[in-house]
Amino acid sequence: MLVLGIETSCDETAVGIVEDGRRLISNVVASQAAIHARYGGVVPEVASRHHLEAIVPVIKAALGEARCQPADLDAVAVTSGPGLAGALLVGLNAAKALSFAWEKPLVSINHLEGHIYANWLGDQVPGFPAVVLIVSGGHSELVLAEGHGVYRLLGRTRDDAAGEAFDKAARVLGLGFPGGPAIEREAREAKTKPPRLPRAWLGESCDFSFSGLKTAVGRFAVEARYPVPEIAAGFQDSVVDVLVTKTVRAINTYDASCVLLSGGVAANGLLRQTLAEKSPVPLWAPPLELCTDNGAMIAAAGFYRAESGRAGLDLDVRASWPIA
Ligand code: KG4
Ligand code: ZN
Repeated sequence: MLVLGIETSCDETAVGIVEDGRRLISNVVASQAAIHARYGGVVPEVASRHHLEAIVPVIKAALGEARCQPADLDAVAVTSGPGLAGALLVGLNAAKALSFAWEKPLVSINHLEGHIYANWLGDQVPGFPAVVLIVSGGHSELVLAEGHGVYRLLGRTRDDAAGEAFDKAARVLGLGFPGGPAIEREAREAKTKPPRLPRAWLGESCDFSFSGLKTAVGRFAVEARYPVPEIAAGFQDSVVDVLVTKTVRAINTYDASCVLLSGGVAANGLLRQTLAEKSPVPLWAPPLELCTDNGAMIAAAGFYRAESGRAGLDLDVRASWPIA
């Protein structure tokens, strides 16, 4: 079964084609990161306009890269939420038009579920129950996946998402946007022991909080007692410590058979390495290019949602759509 997946929930116009939910046939991403960099974050209206310009060329490129004709496809899957409403609308309307013109079923996908299924795009697939840490620019969710499409929300951020914290810390430290890769690069330059920045444990809760840490980075930046690489490293250590400690606790509590990492922050080397070391069960983490937003992960999820996610042309976007 060949599924074409469309993703436009934030600042990537992305289309991928996947066979049987596992085999990546093509994956084309037009990133707007450089455009939003000068504003220090994603500007929703600007994102929608650029999606409009990019969507048709990106669809054509994905079909071309796959050497595939519309007639070869079995379904069109699309992110219908959560995300920026105007940005989501561009992808959704493109998907509706293709579904109608090509006479293929339309499948509605939750963006977070898409991130989870990036872990299915490999030779071996994860088992259930799995603890999933979804950490992106808009989300920090700890989820128990008990089967395909069966999720229990264990915890979520009470303020900033993990990626948002990276982006804001990078801005305060003058490192540019997107902040995650910038902080990771800068932290590698630290020559001395980084300062210990605060961790919000919130008792036994699986919830997260990063706003206090963000404030602390601001204070360290103003005081200038430490060089920027050391502050960046201290920030990264704090985020990774909290994410890994809470994830490992959830694995033990729910007796998970494996742990899955997904979302843009899953590209972080320290997070991948620390979780791999501390997890009592096997870790799955997508290759770097499948951690950040892409269409292949939506196509992979579309295979498993082919029936339950089936939607009509009256499908609307959902800016807010909890996964469970
Ligand atoms: O999943 P994604 O592409 O978009 C959303 O759905 O939000 O995630 C983007 C986020 C940004 O906040 C970016 O700073 C962060 O992922 N990110 C990273 C790294 N690469 C991207 N954070 C930490 N370390 C990285 N290497
Ligand atoms: Zn995302």
